[in-house]
Amino acid sequence: MPQSWCTNRFPDKKEQSGTVYFFVNDLKFLTEMAKINFITKAGVEMQLEAASGSVMELAVNNSVPGIDGDCGGVCSCATCHVHVAPEDWAQTGAPGDMEKDMLEFDDNASEFSRLSCQMSISDELDGITLKVAN
Ligand code: FES
Repeated sequence: MPQSWCTNRFPDKKEQSGTVYFFVNDLKFLTEMAKINFITKAGVEMQLEAASGSVMELAVNNSVPGIDGDCGGVCSCATCHVHVAPEDWAQTGAPGDMEKDMLEFDDNASEFSRLSCQMSISDELDGITLKVAN
């Protein structure tokens, strides 16, 4: 890993003679992966994993059918709409105000709707199941 990558991401880390020191929590952040389960409209199940980014980016980068991310993740297209499994709702949390406004225009919205571009991947999301809405 290039030194500049480390110091740019973690500017408060100590550096001596070209060595960057990380703390244990940083290493945990860099190595933990969250597994996200997707179920497409056709009923195909896909389990993907990532350590960072948004759920939409994970889906688009892995060609999950029905998640297009047309607006690039700025909450203005709803082409990343998913239905969270009810048992996982507490893990994802409710949509924000802007997200709710966007979902109001989608006829396929439910009480468990989220825009996956507004869901940041973290270990909190590990194991959740999302049904692709469109
Ligand atoms: S990618 Fe456009 S609203 Fe999520």
